[in-house]
Amino acid sequence: MSEPYDRGGMAESGRFGLPSARGTVGARVAERIASLTPEQRELTDRGAEIIKAGGLVAFPTETVYGLGANALDAEAVKKIYETKGRPSDNPLILHVSSIEMTEALVEINWRARFLMERFWPGPLSIVLPAKEIIPARTRGGLSTAAVRMPDTAAALALIEKSGLPVAAPSANISGRPSPTDAETVRQEIGRVIPLVIDGGDTRLGLESTVIDMTGDHPVLLRPGGLPKETVEEALNMEVLLPQDQKMIRRSPGTRYRHYAPAIPLKLSAPQETPADADNWAWLGTGNPAGSPCVKIIFRDDAEYAKELFRALRTLERSGARIIYAELPAEKGIGRALKDRLIRAAGE
Ligand code: TXA
Ligand code: MG
Repeated sequence: MSEPYDRGGMAESGRFGLPSARGTVGARVAERIASLTPEQRELTDRGAEIIKAGGLVAFPTETVYGLGANALDAEAVKKIYETKGRPSDNPLILHVSSIEMTEALVEINWRARFLMERFWPGPLSIVLPAKEIIPARTRGGLSTAAVRMPDTAAALALIEKSGLPVAAPSANISGRPSPTDAETVRQEIGRVIPLVIDGGDTRLGLESTVIDMTGDHPVLLRPGGLPKETVEEALNMEVLLPQDQKMIRRSPGTRYRHYAPAIPLKLSAPQETPADADNWAWLGTGNPAGSPCVKIIFRDDAEYAKELFRALRTLERSGARIIYAELPAEKGIGRALKDRLIRAAGE
């Protein structure tokens, strides 16, 4: 495909922060932070003090809740791995509140800058060459790092008030479904962390899209809240899927079993669900054949995505023996949804 952008123009819009159709990143961030409630203002003040002192804070993003620490403090980051039981070679995403903060962390190329200006704050994590300031522990020993600007007032205020990039994986025990509300975070890890900032239910319910921008072609390392097609339209360029083992190794997180509910999960079309078995649960947008003991039917894929992790936690406590979940089509948010379902099924 041809290159749609004039490099000079792009670099200029980055350097001088010329407004795009959505306004500048800085203006969008200021607008979010201005919408903080008085209660969140107080909680994010406290959270920023904890982050600066090397502690952990759980906070809402637009995707899932994150478990944050100062990304530049290897000891603080170690606590994240310990709390989650996360393998130490699975790198963390660094959450930022400005492009200037990002420039101190990674080498930004013009295409990556364009994506930041277009989609930040938002559910897009960009993998770029890391600068030395990022401890090896945060990067899982890699020479690259993932950066993302989350899109909630609380997350942006926490980062901005601490003045530090915040490393944050999803705030669940490693391998479990990601939390999409504060109560789930409290139940899962609340006993061992000093502060959970409550921002209600998350807007998207699935994690950010992770794209490797270190090479000549963007590579999709994890489908997520921002559809691949939307990025391709913006870049006027194909986003490649990881083809070979070398590329897959670049995304260590994809090696591990994830999102697993405590009871088995099977992927199925509605008409292929059991007609007479007992104690099975259904999850999908269509109506299943047979009679499940619990069924959760979503309006569309967006609602399926938003509610998936909560539904998995609900169903594992429902008395059902097995979950049948409908496999969505691989387009838009359906791609990320399908990815999470396949991993939850352990396939
Ligand atoms: O929406 C999200 O991204 C949430 C919220 C809290 O921001 N965070 C999240 O983090 O999902 P986590 O740690 O659960 O997933 C991070 C993913 C993993 O698959 C990891 O392997 C990948 O990003 N990743 C991080 N740094 C990377 C790097 N340098 N190269 C390749 N993949 C990287
Ligand atoms: Mg996770």
